Amino acid sequence: MSRTNKKIAVIGAGNVGATCAFVLAQMKIGQVVMLDIYEGFAKGKALDMSQNANVLNYDGTITGTSNYEDIAGSSVVVVTSGFPRQPGMTREDLIGKNAEIVRQVGEGIKEHAPDSVIIMVTNPLDLMTYHMQKVTGFPKERVVGQAGVLDSARMTHFIAEAVGCSEEDVSAMVLGGHGDTMVPLPSYTTVSGIPITQLLDDETIRKICERTASGGGEIVKLLERGSAFYAPGSAAAIMAESVIQDRKRLIPASTLLSGEYGLDDVYIGVPVILGSTGVEKIIELELSSQELESLQKSGNFYKEQLTSILGY
Ligand code: APR
Repeated sequence: MSRTNKKIAVIGAGNVGATCAFVLAQMKIGQVVMLDIYEGFAKGKALDMSQNANVLNYDGTITGTSNYEDIAGSSVVVVTSGFPRQPGMTREDLIGKNAEIVRQVGEGIKEHAPDSVIIMVTNPLDLMTYHMQKVTGFPKERVVGQAGVLDSARMTHFIAEAVGCSEEDVSAMVLGGHGDTMVPLPSYTTVSGIPITQLLDDETIRKICERTASGGGEIVKLLERGSAFYAPGSAAAIMAESVIQDRKRLIPASTLLSGEYGLDDVYIGVPVILGSTGVEKIIELELSSQELESLQKSGNFYKEQLTSILGY
């Protein structure tokens, strides 16, 4: 049995959802409930993970369901339900299909876990996070999108490779939308406090930023079916942990801006403090005019799509 009564729901038991649940189980921070439209899929994966509890020494319960009543009492709900990209698709190509799934899921969360913090993973991330906030009517602080942790982790990996150092010592910062307009920030990226500009030349840094922005697409192309899930699922688990444990991690995440960075009424990735009440603070970094312009371009791209495609 679980030694904590904290409950985390993961909606969607596919590649990303199951990875997230698996990482959460190993963190031993609460009971994990996986919900999928296909009941057997969620139950089967939960049973498989439960049978691994002795091997990996988990301490909690993992259950599967298709019934929203089972997510009641969840402090955090991670939403991964929806279609992933196939080769040749942009994340924005998923809007139509995934908006309807997010609507259904949002209604279930609103009814059965009305006090939860929602962490969105479904793509196109920034648009689906906005949509979820509207569907549930939750305060903006309690609906946050995962992307910055993933995008920064991708950048971190490329930097560690280029410098030839441990991944652990790299701290990268990526803002903006989770798509082609994302804004990697070398000016806020360090290795054990050393600015990367002192360790890598401009051309290498430029290539790393480019590869970071197309990091998901590179994997979609290699996989040929579906999209990345180990890093996205784990990044969502890290965010859930920060909420459940009130860790107040300072991480980039998609949050609703109300004038910060010159943007309004749009979800976009910026640094936030994430605690038990959700987004507790938005950090406004000093950016160069070029960096700010890129961030605003990214925000305005999504703002336009919210109106033209989702009708907001
Ligand atoms: N309610 C609950 N679950 C649903 C619903 C719904 N209305 N519709 C679909 N699902 C479930 C599917 O049954 C499937 O198990 O969502 C799961 C999605 O899993 P995958 O197809 O494996 O997709 P995955 O790779 O996990 O990606 C999920 O995360 O990173 C994003 O772009 C990615 O939007 C995609 C999402």
